[in-house]
Amino acid sequence: MEAKKLLVIFGTRPEAIKVAPIIQAAKTSPQLECVVAVTGQHREMLDQVNTLFGIVPDFDLDVFAKDQSLNRLVARIIDGLDGVFDECAPDVVLVQGDTTSAVAGAIAAFYRGIPVVHAEAGLRSYNLFSPFPEEANRKLASQLATLHLAPTMFNKRNLLNEGVSEQNIVVTGNTVIDALLQTLSDDISFSDPRLLEVESSGRRLVTITTHRRENHGSRMTSIARAIAEIAATVPETDFVLPLHWNPAVRDQIIPAISGLDNVVVTDPLNYAEFTKLLSLSSVVLTDSGGVQEEAPSLGKPVLVMRSNTERPEGIVAGSVKLVGTATDDIVREMLLLLGDQAAFESMATAINPYGDGKASLRSVAAIAELLHVGERAEEFNSWNPSEEQLVRAAQMIQE
Ligand code: UD1
Ligand code: UDP
Repeated sequence: MEAKKLLVIFGTRPEAIKVAPIIQAAKTSPQLECVVAVTGQHREMLDQVNTLFGIVPDFDLDVFAKDQSLNRLVARIIDGLDGVFDECAPDVVLVQGDTTSAVAGAIAAFYRGIPVVHAEAGLRSYNLFSPFPEEANRKLASQLATLHLAPTMFNKRNLLNEGVSEQNIVVTGNTVIDALLQTLSDDISFSDPRLLEVESSGRRLVTITTHRRENHGSRMTSIARAIAEIAATVPETDFVLPLHWNPAVRDQIIPAISGLDNVVVTDPLNYAEFTKLLSLSSVVLTDSGGVQEEAPSLGKPVLVMRSNTERPEGIVAGSVKLVGTATDDIVREMLLLLGDQAAFESMATAINPYGDGKASLRSVAAIAELLHVGERAEEFNSWNPSEEQLVRAAQMIQE
């Protein structure tokens, strides 16, 4: 049987982490020939991941430019992909998640009549403006996809409610857990001497990340103030912020926290070092999607600096809490976790609602079935919520 050609398109750090296990699995599948196209929406942060996972793109649109508009980004990606499709003639295209690269990849493939597989399908906040523009991006991708790879039962439920046919949805688990388990098994050493010092000190550690576009501006100022206040209140705890390259983030965070001895700001860490940092942390404070998924499986309580989430599973399970972006709320909730052992322990349970490490195998099997060269695998079902939990989860994502 002739192998079918799968083209994987991605452009940012989280997509790269989440498609890496799919690419690795597809490359070992005799039914598929896997071709990789990166848009270059991110540059350093994208290349960092590809290097770690040994992925060498076959095509690179190299669209990166500092602070370019979303419209220019979309236009350049769609234009560039036409040439990739001409050269590669894929049987199917896979896009991941909710970024500009994902939605542009889906539109470009759809316009050329190429079936679209959407990985990490069915996440919804039901607020078109939060997260912006991700909620719109993932809804658009759902409209264009032929096959929807839903991480959880809850995501499948969202898609069914929107009228997607059940036979076109496969519950796979999130491939970020595949990436996490694979990476954590490696022997990793920090390259930044300040992190080596944090590690060897044995002091309590909190990891912080922030980058969300809807948090830029006054909310970012409020987040920066909260970090400064918490760090000053608990000087015996170390706070590490691997900071996104976006100047809209750096320019507001760095001045507000300079001069605090127990706050370490680093460049974005490579994925191996970042997962090691997470595993050493007591608590995680973040507005990231991927980090919300990874930390619960490591048993780390997560405070999410957003007022809604498309990932209610961790909240239902008890290890994730939404704290918003107001300084006082962030400070209060963090000091509670750091000061009250019972509050900490009630959230510090390792749970895996997002995956079991086999999501990439299920994804590849579902793609092979779509192309009539294989069969689906059994779905991810170790997080099997009751109807009551699903309803609670649905209520939670509303602001
Ligand atoms: C993008 C995604 C967001 C995702 C995030 C992950 C969109 C609209 N947003 O947001 O969903 O959560 O990636 O990090 O697709 N920069 C660099 N080097 C890099 C990467 C970024 O310098 O390697 C700087 C540039 O100034 C760039 C800015 O960061 O203009 C913003 O990058 P962009 O991809 O537009 O948005 P993100 O906020 O990263
Ligand atoms: N991450 C990383 N290095 C860092 C910070 C985060 O490798 O310095 C990883 C993290 O483990 C997660 C992903 O990046 O898998 C999340 O990316 P980001 O927060 O940029 O995007 P989001 O998930 O919010 O779309």
